[in-house]
Amino acid sequence: MSDPYGLRRVIKPAGVLPQRAESLDPELPLGEDELLIEVESLNIDAASFRQIEKAEGGDTARIAEHIRRIVSSRGKMHNPVTGSGGMLIGRVAEIGPKHPAAGDLKPGERIATLVSLSLTPLRLREVVKVHPAIDRVDVKAQAILFASGLYARLPTDLPETLALAALDVCGAPALVARHVRPGMRVLVLGAGKSGALCCAQARQSLKGQGQVIAMDISPAAVKRFRDDGLCDAGLAVDATRALETMQALQSATGGELCDLVVNVASVPETEMSELLCSKDGGSVIFFSMATSFTAATLGAEGLGKDITLYMGNGYVPGHANLTLELVRQVPAIRRLFEERYTGS
Ligand SMILES: NC(=O)c1ccc[n+]([C@@H]2O[C@H](COP(=O)([O-])OP(=O)(O)OC[C@H]3O[C@@H](n4cnc5c(N)ncnc54)[C@H](OP(=O)(O)O)[C@@H]3O)[C@@H](O)[C@H]2O)c1
Repeated sequence: MSDPYGLRRVIKPAGVLPQRAESLDPELPLGEDELLIEVESLNIDAASFRQIEKAEGGDTARIAEHIRRIVSSRGKMHNPVTGSGGMLIGRVAEIGPKHPAAGDLKPGERIATLVSLSLTPLRLREVVKVHPAIDRVDVKAQAILFASGLYARLPTDLPETLALAALDVCGAPALVARHVRPGMRVLVLGAGKSGALCCAQARQSLKGQGQVIAMDISPAAVKRFRDDGLCDAGLAVDATRALETMQALQSATGGELCDLVVNVASVPETEMSELLCSKDGGSVIFFSMATSFTAATLGAEGLGKDITLYMGNGYVPGHANLTLELVRQVPAIRRLFEERYTGS
């Protein structure tokens, strides 16, 4: 029987989709429309990794144990506190004859999944190593991809850790490409890896007309974006302090607000900053997994502002290729990712 969304893997509560499930069954045998992956590493979502790291005082052995506990109780790496997952990298182990990749992928090929770990059945045998600097955990594990599950073949011209880190957030620059038009003023909140990709894409989409402003709590991150030409202006602000954030923006723009605000900061309670920085009639895209729907929607209403609020869908057709092309074409992005994810 065809089961593209993996309903047969849900243990409880019965009848929900895998992402909403408390626990999944990651055991074999493989369904005829499923794909089995021998997993090498998990790229944990930034918000999830920060939460686990903080809960375990930064101790890598305890972080490993924390991850083991989540996967053994849930059958997936779905952080119950942040609700987020991440993605994985591994080799194709077996392809069910009715999986859409049958005839395309072959056993042994290396792929990265582009659907969240929060819905991916995972059987974890061992946590081999935790890499806190890159939110990555090397593991011995097997994962199952449903027929609807997106994946990307790992490119051979880019270092693997770098490609994985870029693919992990590839929905963000792709959605920026969809929304940015020449003449806009675009604010990117969070000068991390998604922030870099979003700024680079916004600059490309503006075609020299408009402005990209980057904001981050770290003055060094902001300076780097400015020096690298990823933004036209950079502001060091704590985005959890909404009024100060808006004032910083307005003093940099002569009182103007933004047509589009993109939230890729990794902390909660930044919604009011994005809303205050958006002009009436503008749009905000919330990518951060720490976003509260309630805070965003009630916050906009409370301000009496007509702002279109988008929740950043991680899937945009062509997102993997668009993002890998940015890494290939924009030297500043390539350097930033190389330093952060390959140590070179
Ligand atoms: N839905 C999707 O498809 C999608 C796509 C892309 C990203 N995202 C989400 O977006 C978030 C960011 O991801 P990422 O990988 O880009 O993380 P990242 O590299 O850690 O970047 C986040 C940035 O936010 C900054 N930040 C932290 N606290 C701040 C504050 N109070 N004010 C302003 N900036 C602050 C961080 O600064 P420090 O490093 O100094 O703390 C960091 O530079 C994650 O939750 C991720 O899951 C989702």
